[in-house]
Amino acid sequence: MVNTTTAAVAKAETVAVAPPCAMVIFGAGGDLTKRLVTPALYNLVTAKRLPDGFRLVGVDHGNRTVDDWRKTLSDMMNEFVTKGGGEFQADRIDETAWKWLTDRMTYLQGDFEDPQTYSRLKDHLAGLDKTAGTAGNHLFYLAVAERFFSVVVAALGAADMVKEENGQWRRVVVEKPFGRDLPSAKALNAAILKTLHEHQIYRMDHFLGKETVQNIMALRFANGLFEPLWNRQHIDHVQITASETVGVERRGKFYEQTGALRDMVPNHMFQLLSLTAMEPPISFDAEAVRGKKAEVIQAIRPVKYPLRDAVRGQYGAGTVLGKQALAYRSEPNVAPDSNTETYIAWKLQIDNWRWAGVPFYLRTGKYLRRRWTEVAIRFHQAPYTLFRGTHVEQMNPNWMILRIQPDEGIALQFAAKRPGPTVTLGNVSMDFAYKTYFASAPNTGYETLLYDCMIGDATLFQRADNIEAGWRAVQPIMDFWANNPAKDLATYAAGSDGPAAADALLARAGRAWRPLE
Ligand code: BG6
Repeated sequence: MVNTTTAAVAKAETVAVAPPCAMVIFGAGGDLTKRLVTPALYNLVTAKRLPDGFRLVGVDHGNRTVDDWRKTLSDMMNEFVTKGGGEFQADRIDETAWKWLTDRMTYLQGDFEDPQTYSRLKDHLAGLDKTAGTAGNHLFYLAVAERFFSVVVAALGAADMVKEENGQWRRVVVEKPFGRDLPSAKALNAAILKTLHEHQIYRMDHFLGKETVQNIMALRFANGLFEPLWNRQHIDHVQITASETVGVERRGKFYEQTGALRDMVPNHMFQLLSLTAMEPPISFDAEAVRGKKAEVIQAIRPVKYPLRDAVRGQYGAGTVLGKQALAYRSEPNVAPDSNTETYIAWKLQIDNWRWAGVPFYLRTGKYLRRRWTEVAIRFHQAPYTLFRGTHVEQMNPNWMILRIQPDEGIALQFAAKRPGPTVTLGNVSMDFAYKTYFASAPNTGYETLLYDCMIGDATLFQRADNIEAGWRAVQPIMDFWANNPAKDLATYAAGSDGPAAADALLARAGRAWRPLE
């Protein structure tokens, strides 16, 4: 028997090959290139999404030949296979596909601040356009420290490398951190918009590369069942959780300046929030979707009482997944009296017609008990009257859980009558797991995003106003914390579920966090 669902999915997966282009990676020797961009390109090769006229140009200040660069990348890929544990997961490397990719690589040594780098790159790209069939399309990927974003963009502009003529496109990809607060994000947008048009800028948030994050829109808008319930009439509150079992690892220096709020909330958590709470767009067109997402973030009520509505925590020593973990303050490159938060919980309100009065609780932190990312929607309780005089003393609410990672899926929890002569209720769950329905292709989360840059689909990227709305919403909390460094910082044991103050945030309204399952 033909499984029609699987057949439909397979058909939908026959996606066109991307147009020819030269992709230039600034920061070719860095971690992002090795760990994510190259494996994702390799996956795109095996999925036959890259055209013959694709070329990959590495640019970095390191003195290496193209063979050195290829070797570093090959070693990394092999290490992923032999050691596992990275974002790229495979049992083996397909040598033909890998050769296809490495044959298309070139390397150019140059300082990002040196205009010479850009004139040499320009000549190099002109050569590729003539001889390698890259068709004059250039994708500049900035895998560099944030301080170089505007430097590289301005230099590309000064070298006249971003003008789009004769149907040839020029695009620039930047990743977070996009600013560190509202003023710096505005300044960065203004700086790069001096050189580029908005449609040429692809501000990446890797959470949008996660299939299950993208699926929030499909779930809401492709089903007649849920959308009528998706509002304050039926929903009591929403919990959005991104709990991690990693600590700050080797990133103490970066994290000291950043903290959990900046690192996760205006970007990743707000992606989950906006997809969950946005109004239906009129199409999947980039402008339509991004407009609706911006509106919902703009509707977040400005925080007046950070002490009441936000909780910050920092991990102390403990045990995570059976391993001893150092306290944050004992991590390398962290001040022994640091007040940087590694955990945040926040109760926010969205002041619009759909959500007025429905609290959204967000929490995220490092070194928690389980790695677990989900959006949980709690519906209002049914009236009790009918059950008076039965054995049912208390009724449990309905939950809808969108599991983002790991164990991707959707669960609907409701009550059912237990078999037997008396009326008693049991909690049951209808559970959909992605892996039982859909075969998944190898995925680092960057494949769709890179492919979308090449085909010019900006739906999954942030517009300037999305970024600024995110920072605007978190700014009052950041300001309060900066001005009151240690006032309310709570410690939680590494490996726990977070600080007790975060439980109190919900308990005050008679609610509780869902367990990190
Ligand atoms: C990054 C943050 O953007 O996202 C990290 O800088 C965080 O601190 C990571 O660990 C989480 O992403 P993922 O895909 O591992 O859930």
